[in-house]
Amino acid sequence: MAITRVKESVMTPAEKGPEPELGSELIPKERYTSPEFMQLEWDKVWSKSWLLGCREEEIPEVGDYVTTEIGNESLLIVRGEDMKARVFYNVCNHRGNQVKFDKGGNSKTLQCAYHFWEYDLTGTLVNVPDEEDFTQGCPKDKLSLKEIPSGTWGGFVFFNLDQNAGPMEDFLGIVPEHLDAYHFEKMRMTMDVTIEWDCNWKTSVDAFNEVYHVQCIHPELLYDNDDVNVQIDLYERHNRYLVPFHTVSPRVDEQPEEVPPIIAYQMQAIGMDPEEFTGRVPEIRLAMQKYKRENQEQLGFDYSDLNDDQLVDDYHYYIYPNLTLNTFADRMMLFRQRPHETDPNKMYYDVKMFTMIPKGQPVPELPDHNQVKHGEISLGLVLDQDSVNLPHVQKGMNSEAYEGLWISHQERRIRHMHKTLMDDINGEHANDA
Ligand SMILES: [Fe+2]
Repeated sequence: MAITRVKESVMTPAEKGPEPELGSELIPKERYTSPEFMQLEWDKVWSKSWLLGCREEEIPEVGDYVTTEIGNESLLIVRGEDMKARVFYNVCNHRGNQVKFDKGGNSKTLQCAYHFWEYDLTGTLVNVPDEEDFTQGCPKDKLSLKEIPSGTWGGFVFFNLDQNAGPMEDFLGIVPEHLDAYHFEKMRMTMDVTIEWDCNWKTSVDAFNEVYHVQCIHPELLYDNDDVNVQIDLYERHNRYLVPFHTVSPRVDEQPEEVPPIIAYQMQAIGMDPEEFTGRVPEIRLAMQKYKRENQEQLGFDYSDLNDDQLVDDYHYYIYPNLTLNTFADRMMLFRQRPHETDPNKMYYDVKMFTMIPKGQPVPELPDHNQVKHGEISLGLVLDQDSVNLPHVQKGMNSEAYEGLWISHQERRIRHMHKTLMDDINGEHANDA
């Protein structure tokens, strides 16, 4: 009898996810301000979690490398001759110099600039000038670059500082099943910026994991997003919310009868003429879904793995501990929050934009990485609005008068993140064992 094989679906599950009981207690502010808690986070989170290192597209050729920092550590990510991406501590075992100082480049071998100790692309120490002068010898295995566990998913290279880390797939959990449909591996990075913010890394994470603030600091978005009918799903480590786009928020008292300019702009961007739209404003979102589905070939995209809502909405994922993905059908905005080396009141906010390049269009050059201080550049209206309060939140959290975070139901992704965080701190996740 013939067996019919059904193609394994990569469609993103859209159904409502779990709602674990998370309590209603105040979240202690010390988690945002205390150097002792920051150290606990290093010991239990940063040195134990699977973290984003770079994009595969940043190291396409043999010998390509990038450096990335987490806390006091610098990591060197290198494409080997076997095309495997390996991640090493970026430190020469001679006198402790960093092997690479720059953000990236290409090298046939990895040579320390101080005394020219040379490692091959697998990290093996292969050449030591005046080697015979080391009377104690130069044992190559002991003095090779220290490699750490690494893995790839969705065009991203991940690493884990813990030599005994469990599999990356276990840590990512639902993430591939939920996000493979977007084919991030085919997207191209178009912006790569780091901003030094005067707040704790979690202050920044929290700013994007609730839509409660939209009505306050993003009034323009009320004419493009439904910030009320937002589905929130809380998984084991990670969480998400699904935000309907190109529709007017129910919070707007006088619902517009004409296409709002902010939506008209989005319609034009995909080739629709807002002047020709004869339906009612609440029907625009579905009309845009239909238009994109019917015209995908002409637009140069393949939406066959995405459901209709995904063609317009923001499927917004928080990948614990420090990635936020605003995911759309043909673009994605990624935030990575990294702690400061020593100060719980500071952090690094990485913004990386990705675009699906339409079929037949040239693939743009990768952007240069830019690191700036808060306020030195604009990230656009919405992200600038998001950033305004954060240093003031951090100041306020340090006040004697403030006790902790008083969290509403619609902000429960923040509470969920704290549950995961405290499970790690208390050693309650399987691969902490
Ligand atoms: Fe916001």
